[in-house]
Amino acid sequence: MFEKDDAGHLQPRRRSSVFRLGFLAAAVLTFVTLYQIETYKEEVASPRLLKDIARCHYLARPAGPEHDFYSRSHSDRFVPGTRPTLVLNATIWTGQHNGTQVINGGELLLDRGLILAMGKVDRELIRSYKQLHVIDADGAWVTPGIIDMHTHLGDAASPALDGAQDDNSIKGPIVSWLRSLDGLNTHDDSYRTTIAGGVTTSLVLPGSANVIGGQAFAIKLRTTKERSPTSMLLEPPFNINTSFPDTGARPRWRHLKQACGENPSGVYSNTRMDNVWAFRQAYNEARKVKESQDAFCSKLLQGERNIGDFPESLQWESLVDVLRGKVKVHTHCYEPVDLDDLMRLSNEFEFPIAAVHHASEAYLVPDLLKTGYGHPPAVALFATDARYKREAYRSSEFAPRVLAQHGIQVAMKSDHPVQNSRFLLYEAQQAYYYGMPYNLAMASVMSTPAQVLGLDHRVGFIQEGYDADIVMWDSHPLALGATPTHVFIDGISQLKDAHVQEKPAVFQELPKVPDFDADAQAAVEYEGLPPLEPKKRTSGFVLFRNVKSLYVHEEDGSVAREVSLMRDDGTLGVVLVHEGKVCYKPESTCAEFVSGVDAADTIDLEGGALAPGLVSFGAPLGLAEIDSEPSTKDGVVTDPLTASVPRIAGGDDALVHASDGLQFGGRDALLAYRAGVTSAITAPIHRGFWGGLSAHFSLGAAHRLQDGAVIRPQAGVHMSISHFGTPSISTQIGTLRRLLLSSKAGEAGFWFEEVRKGRVPLVVEAHSADIIATLIELKREVEQKLGTTIKLTVTGASEAHLLAPELSANGVGVIMNPARAFPYAWEDRRILPGPPLTERSAISTLIEHNVTVGVGVLEAWDARNARFDLAWAWYEAAGSMSRQEAMALASTNVEELLTGSVASAQRDLVATRGGDMFDMSSRVVAVVSARQGAVDLL
Ligand SMILES: *[C@@H]1O[C@H](CO)[C@@H](O)[C@H](O)[C@H]1NC(C)=O
Ligand SMILES: *[C@@H]1O[C@H](CO)[C@@H](O)[C@H](O)[C@H]1NC(C)=O
Ligand SMILES: *[C@@H]1O[C@H](CO)[C@@H](O)[C@H](O)[C@H]1NC(C)=O
Ligand SMILES: *[C@@H]1O[C@H](CO)[C@@H](O)[C@H](O)[C@H]1NC(C)=O
Repeated sequence: MFEKDDAGHLQPRRRSSVFRLGFLAAAVLTFVTLYQIETYKEEVASPRLLKDIARCHYLARPAGPEHDFYSRSHSDRFVPGTRPTLVLNATIWTGQHNGTQVINGGELLLDRGLILAMGKVDRELIRSYKQLHVIDADGAWVTPGIIDMHTHLGDAASPALDGAQDDNSIKGPIVSWLRSLDGLNTHDDSYRTTIAGGVTTSLVLPGSANVIGGQAFAIKLRTTKERSPTSMLLEPPFNINTSFPDTGARPRWRHLKQACGENPSGVYSNTRMDNVWAFRQAYNEARKVKESQDAFCSKLLQGERNIGDFPESLQWESLVDVLRGKVKVHTHCYEPVDLDDLMRLSNEFEFPIAAVHHASEAYLVPDLLKTGYGHPPAVALFATDARYKREAYRSSEFAPRVLAQHGIQVAMKSDHPVQNSRFLLYEAQQAYYYGMPYNLAMASVMSTPAQVLGLDHRVGFIQEGYDADIVMWDSHPLALGATPTHVFIDGISQLKDAHVQEKPAVFQELPKVPDFDADAQAAVEYEGLPPLEPKKRTSGFVLFRNVKSLYVHEEDGSVAREVSLMRDDGTLGVVLVHEGKVCYKPESTCAEFVSGVDAADTIDLEGGALAPGLVSFGAPLGLAEIDSEPSTKDGVVTDPLTASVPRIAGGDDALVHASDGLQFGGRDALLAYRAGVTSAITAPIHRGFWGGLSAHFSLGAAHRLQDGAVIRPQAGVHMSISHFGTPSISTQIGTLRRLLLSSKAGEAGFWFEEVRKGRVPLVVEAHSADIIATLIELKREVEQKLGTTIKLTVTGASEAHLLAPELSANGVGVIMNPARAFPYAWEDRRILPGPPLTERSAISTLIEHNVTVGVGVLEAWDARNARFDLAWAWYEAAGSMSRQEAMALASTNVEELLTGSVASAQRDLVATRGGDMFDMSSRVVAVVSARQGAVDLL
């Protein structure tokens, strides 16, 4: 009982004439079929004949939910014994009405795995329950469970272990017969963390190493009592084995993964031309099989006999189903050249593409997408994850809004573990921040993926008769840091005791966001490469009006103190800058300073603020432009532990200076600069133990000879202790001990002497608590033997929280990198996940123990998000950290931990309009650089 509403999803329990016509047609068809079967039975009555006839009818039936789907009394995934739940007084985002419908004071009755009733639940019905778990939402937001339509969860393990990498077969460019289900591991740390982010359903796709990589499966993420992969499947296709149903059931949607461009090319040394030929050859095989099946069925149903066996092909049957329109085809496809190939393929073989994934340039060619067979594909995107390879170089944070403006469906996806799917909602928040309408941003991780997957008859919306997959949030879902307080999957509560602190009332409202219209236009106009340089650099007077607060640096050192410029009567202050120097006053008292500077550039900050310039660490910012393109990078350091360094380059004593390889003006650098990250500290790119000397440099400078471009050419000595690419951990530690205790010659000898004297910090990437503990002991040993104090900073530090008191007692600082840890590898597995799974976050735990903490990123594109990372850390700390401490996480602390001190007199200030660094309502409009004696107007 369903029909399509204006947004294109199914509306249950409402009959319409269209539906009735459909029902009539189905009834006639069934009758005719039964009649024919009866006739044949009389004729031959062979079981194989009956099976073939049923099979032929099945082939002709379109995929989708049964017409009487909503007459189900319980979900097929219902677990008997599940406690019925009544939610009272919720603010329900239903997904209906194009994502604009919100029910205030809404109620939900969850039972039998379904949303049995919603809105105002009938009191009679409530009284009929003896036991009802009642949750008073007290006005909290409730949404459908999040749906991730691109994940490798379960197939690519977290933590990654060699024994569980089942997402990419490299047996050939075409492996359409493979199935992600067959590699789906039920033991993965991410199930729990991803559910904690409100994700309830995921499409597990094979990897992108192949042109056609295999079949994908939708799963629900909860554990099942069967503990099997099969029991996790959501509406698995009947074709999961070769038994074909003869029950008259409608086929269920299937899913296929394809990939264009670089990934399959790289694995098979193909060109794009080879890839497309592989596609066409495969579909041509499938076409032949389909045609012989059709011919067989046509003869059979016309009464011909002795026509041989049904032309079965286990190898090609999934592509035959694509040609029959029963498969949602998902294609990893980035650029116009690939999208064009794909649209031609879809027309040549006459099948629609459900979605193009990653599709970093789709926003430049919306009309090309519209040429696809049947309907334009939806586009599944990252928000700001970009430029990691050539295909992604022209990605834009404005793509979601631009595509939406062209009427293309946009879903945000994680590509887990590429992005931690726990934070898929954050992708939607960023899309919204950069201008995607709020209703579509919400839908992009809930209703839209449900529609694209053909599952919108049961998930992705809050509706009577839908699966009981709902999430209750501690804030508006589009507010940064939104955290689930309850997650239900199939009506089963997933968070035993959610640790969530109450947030201020303002968090319950849809956050205001800045106006990026002109930026979005420029992104399209410049084909993804809009100019990012400041509009103007001035050393003249610049006047900032309506300033709420300003950070000033203490003369003596690292701390930046926030000074409010707002007076009791609510009037805001002014900040006047000349040659990069600052005078700040409440507006009225700055008059003498302001007078006579008529020529000043005046900027209204609309209640904004001036905060310290943020400092990025962890990515090869300044050493690489496109990570997978060697010719855009400085390159990788030779590690003397695994290879021999030429004697002419210094042999074992060589220690590379990142400063010597710096590249300025890169897009990630400039995007970070425009987001308030004014400098970076980058270590030489290394894959193993041996790093080198990091450099601290300005992200806004055009080249190294500009004033203030290189802030500190030799910042700290970097090494990594990890399980990857180098001899044993004990060998690495032993080598480090030797370097610290015995004098060496050459460059390395000189810099380790500086480390011994405590003049430059030793910065060691280490994740496991065991390695970190060994480093602490090593520090003690060295200090005892030499009678000095060395500065040690640990980066990465996924498990550092386990040693918070010891780190504190030994004066070891930590850079959490990434800011929200993830169990990438065994050495990261003991993360402290933070709310809602644990009360404390890793950062707040370390800070509580007085450990100096900074936050970093892993990849250059992510540098721009530092302000969101620090705001998030602050929200998660729930009052145990001051704003000032949070601000220091991505600014002064990073500088102190990596260079040994803070160049306080030379700090940059960043001006935000419409709010401060913590607010989604603000954007960065200017950078005040004391170093360069100038203000950059962005
Ligand atoms: C859905 O919302 C978007 C954005 O607000 C709007 O552009 C579009 O026209 C709406 N679609 C319908 C069918 O109302
Ligand atoms: C529902 O929650 C809101 C927000 O907390 C509250 O103001 C209101 O009184 C509640 N209504 C009922 C009926 O409990
Ligand atoms: C084939 O799969 C269906 C589910 O689609 C299942 O009901 C049936 O038992 C399976 N048959 C065999 C032989 O495994
Ligand atoms: C952290 O430092 C504060 C202030 O110096 C002190 O009161 C507190 O006891 C310290 N906490 C720990 C766990 O060391």
